[in-house]
Amino acid sequence: MIKTLTVLDYNRELIELLLLDKIGAIALYLAMPVAYFILFQNIVPLEMLFGFLFSQIVMYIIRTNITRDFLEVLFTEEDSQVRRMLRFQLITIFFNAVLWGVAATLTVMYADESLILMMIAALFIVFTLSLAVLTPIFHAVFIFIVTIIVIFTTSLVFLTDTYIFNLSTVFLLAYLVLFLPVAYKVYRVMLKSIQQKEEILFLNYNLELRISDATAELEAKNTKLSNSVENFQTLLDTTMEMIIIIDSNKIIIDINRAGVDLLMAKSKEDLLGRRLPDFVDDKDRQKLSLIMNNNSGEASELSMRKIGGESFPTLANSQNVVQKGKRLRIITMQDLTQIQQKERLLLQQSRMAQMGEMLSMIAHQWRQPLGAISSAIFGIQTKLATGKYDNRDSNEDLYKFLNTKHKRINEYVQFLSTTIDDFRNFFKPDKKKELVMFESTIGRALLIVEGSLTSHGIDVAYTFNVNEKVEIFQNEIMQVILNIIKNSEDNFIEKGTKNPKIRIETNKMPAHYEIVISDNGGGISEHIIDSVFEPYFSTKDEKNGSGLGLYMSKMMIEEHSGGLLQVENTKDGVAFSILIPHF
Ligand SMILES: Nc1ncnc2c1ncn2[C@@H]1O[C@H](COP(=O)(O)OP(=O)(O)OP(=O)(O)O)[C@@H](O)[C@H]1O
Ligand SMILES: [Mg+2]
Repeated sequence: MIKTLTVLDYNRELIELLLLDKIGAIALYLAMPVAYFILFQNIVPLEMLFGFLFSQIVMYIIRTNITRDFLEVLFTEEDSQVRRMLRFQLITIFFNAVLWGVAATLTVMYADESLILMMIAALFIVFTLSLAVLTPIFHAVFIFIVTIIVIFTTSLVFLTDTYIFNLSTVFLLAYLVLFLPVAYKVYRVMLKSIQQKEEILFLNYNLELRISDATAELEAKNTKLSNSVENFQTLLDTTMEMIIIIDSNKIIIDINRAGVDLLMAKSKEDLLGRRLPDFVDDKDRQKLSLIMNNNSGEASELSMRKIGGESFPTLANSQNVVQKGKRLRIITMQDLTQIQQKERLLLQQSRMAQMGEMLSMIAHQWRQPLGAISSAIFGIQTKLATGKYDNRDSNEDLYKFLNTKHKRINEYVQFLSTTIDDFRNFFKPDKKKELVMFESTIGRALLIVEGSLTSHGIDVAYTFNVNEKVEIFQNEIMQVILNIIKNSEDNFIEKGTKNPKIRIETNKMPAHYEIVISDNGGGISEHIIDSVFEPYFSTKDEKNGSGLGLYMSKMMIEEHSGGLLQVENTKDGVAFSILIPHF
């Protein structure tokens, strides 16, 4: 109690309670003084009574005014300001108490014993009223009661000496001792209830905050969920694959837009509730069961049927799902119609391209033997035109000549026909190798070009170091040799090389056979040497070169014979190496 009195620190709601009690204030400051006035109007001098009543009214007005101002700022001002204003309130209460003390002293001075006792009774009423009005602020009760009792008992002690008034003094002081703790207790109860109310308000506020947080969170989750459901639906509907969900009886329970479109249904509702096997081609019904029992996620081709009866190919797979305790299957199908059409088109195109390539290759390789044939025929014609064949000797000579030329032409024609076969088999892996003397391949190639080489004064030198039978694609290797020699010849002619010379050397190395064909034609410039094996790469004009020779040669050596075809510049020309593995 003492501790409470040392600081002026009150809960603002308690202060508000004190300030708001208007009826209490009227009773305490107006009604009671008026009652006093009436009671003592014939005993206490009138001017004193008026003074008392007037002072009380003034006090009431002052108090009402400061109370109004105080109420206005009570919940907005700082603590120190609130304390200052509370102090004002307490001062008015003090003056009020002093007035009551003075009034009581006046009765002691002017009234007789019975009226003084009445005054004591009136003071009890005032005290009780003050308990009701002032308790929210314990300071107020304390100041009010103590001031009145001190003044009144002092006047009793000094102005009377009868037994009854001594008793009254003791009684009043005892009252003070009992009254104050009760007032304090009432104050504590009020404080506690206010604090509890605040606590409840705070808890309530917290609870509201939490509820609104939780609601916001829930709403966010809801939005997210509905977004994701929407996204999922959009995903389902925008995918190009047909997605069908069926139950254990193969009844369609959901299908996406692609599915509706592919099956040529008017709407999804046309398909829901129907059996999936009704949309599968008769021949593939069993396959559908296989796909549905296969959980590996592997896709298989499945022929489906549109509502109009037209079939279309798909790639299908299926997956088990459990939804709300029901086992369902999701079947995904990709329409293969377009892909298959494209595949067919591509295949056709690539076949055409292969045929075109084959024709160019044949044409390329026929050029030399055809040239050789025409020069042989030209030889025969010249011989027949210039010779005189009227005796046996000359006839025999002609016969021999014709026989050789005939043999050659036969060989060239043979080569032409083999070339066609070779290219026909170009992309087939089951070609047969021949067991031949390794160098005979070079000899046969030279036979075709020898006429041309001699006529251009090109010298050919050989060093053969293999001299054994080997199993090779003889005709293809011949073509490669021909291409390389022909290139050298072209280059000699173009550059007008003096003493043109081609050297051919064969060697047996640990892992492969080697044919090195080199010339002295000045070589290939370094910036194009890496491109000479590319298809259609040529430095010659269109009539003289297509750029296919070395490309074909590399393919034949590397893809068919598993060997290597390489080129490098030497000091005065170029050297091509053909490497062919032993087996
Ligand atoms: N011995 C060589 N000396 C100099 N350049 C060469 C030689 N061999 C090839 N080349 C160069 O390599 C290029 C490509 O040769 P490739 O045989 O592939 O085609 P091409 O001879 O131009 O035409 P074709 O298809 O008629 O053979 C030639 O255009 C040429 O520039
Ligand atoms: Mg060439």
